[in-house]
Amino acid sequence: MNPVLYLKQLILICLLLQGCSSGKSEDKESQEATEVNISKSVFGALPDGRSADLYTLKNANGMVVKISNYGGTITYWSAPDKEGKYADITLGCDSLQGYLKGVPYFGALIGRYGNRIANGKFTLEGKAYLLAKNNGVNALHGGIKGFDKVLWEATPVDGEEPQLMLKYISADGEEGYPGTLTTEVTYTLLKDNSLKIEYSAATDKATVVNLTNHAYFNLSGDMSREILDHEVSIKADKFLPVNETLIPTGELKSVSGTVFDFNKSTKIGTGINNLKDQQIVYGKGYDHCWVFSDTSKTLKSVAKVYEPASGRLMEVLTTEPAIQFYSGNFLDGTIKGKGGIVYKHRSGLCLETQHYPDSPNQSGFPSTVLKPGERYNTVTVYKFSAN
Ligand code: BGC
Repeated sequence: MNPVLYLKQLILICLLLQGCSSGKSEDKESQEATEVNISKSVFGALPDGRSADLYTLKNANGMVVKISNYGGTITYWSAPDKEGKYADITLGCDSLQGYLKGVPYFGALIGRYGNRIANGKFTLEGKAYLLAKNNGVNALHGGIKGFDKVLWEATPVDGEEPQLMLKYISADGEEGYPGTLTTEVTYTLLKDNSLKIEYSAATDKATVVNLTNHAYFNLSGDMSREILDHEVSIKADKFLPVNETLIPTGELKSVSGTVFDFNKSTKIGTGINNLKDQQIVYGKGYDHCWVFSDTSKTLKSVAKVYEPASGRLMEVLTTEPAIQFYSGNFLDGTIKGKGGIVYKHRSGLCLETQHYPDSPNQSGFPSTVLKPGERYNTVTVYKFSAN
């Protein structure tokens, strides 16, 4: 063959080959790019006509978390059992209407102040503030219309670890709290089956802030069952005893020798009905705040919940100093949840990472005051595995 022709043919073959291979990698890239790990659908209409959305986050393992921008509410959260089978492990409603009817904070973001403030009032920088009272004489979880009942501005971020960024601007004076508070919460579904929740806030006037999430867990995946066989461990040597309206007395009490000692993994049912303990009587079970022995503000493992039948294990990590362990004592069978299942007494438990309740009135507690120019930043992770 003519050497020039041979060379030309060789170049042509090379170009063709190159074209094919680059075409292949483009195909792969475009395939990866079109794989969507977060999608959006309409959740329903609010009474004022605004539409609430539902975002579905999924990771490569098959874990799915659904979050609405109404209340930043987690409506669905699947986790694997020891056979690798995924099931929904959180309480909630099938539709927005269910949440609008009124539910005890299922899966919702809580703010601006999670937990109770005594008599719905506090004084800050010499000025007295009166809050909306929605729990007897006290203010609970941000008031009558807390962050669980507002529509957040949502920005989905797609990727292998999909994110939902939520933002809400709470007006100065909302529910009685001072200062315009701009709050941002980012949910990220990680590759290792963790859901990371990052909270951030800034104010234009001194105020108090204590943000958390109020998911109810039943790791059996069967919400008609009680959570009494779940085994809990909390790395806390102390808890906060409360009065009859569940306001901390101010004492940090040793858990040692009490049914509040969860340093070793213990079945919830073991001590929950020990009515000889006045604190169990006041809480109608567990409804208390545990103070972590590790007081560092870094992200640390603080609690675990294990459900023996399914083998599901949930680990809680946080930068916060405390956790409210609430054993669903006020669930009373009057709410029908997802799939028409009746949520009976103690069919879900909450582990709400936070600062101590009533801190604005308790000088001995770590401060929850946020001032202009400062930034509130906390992180909590719920990590799932099975064994
Ligand atoms: C509180 C409970 C309350 C529940 C639902 C929890 O965080 O500690 O006392 O009943 O939220 O409102």
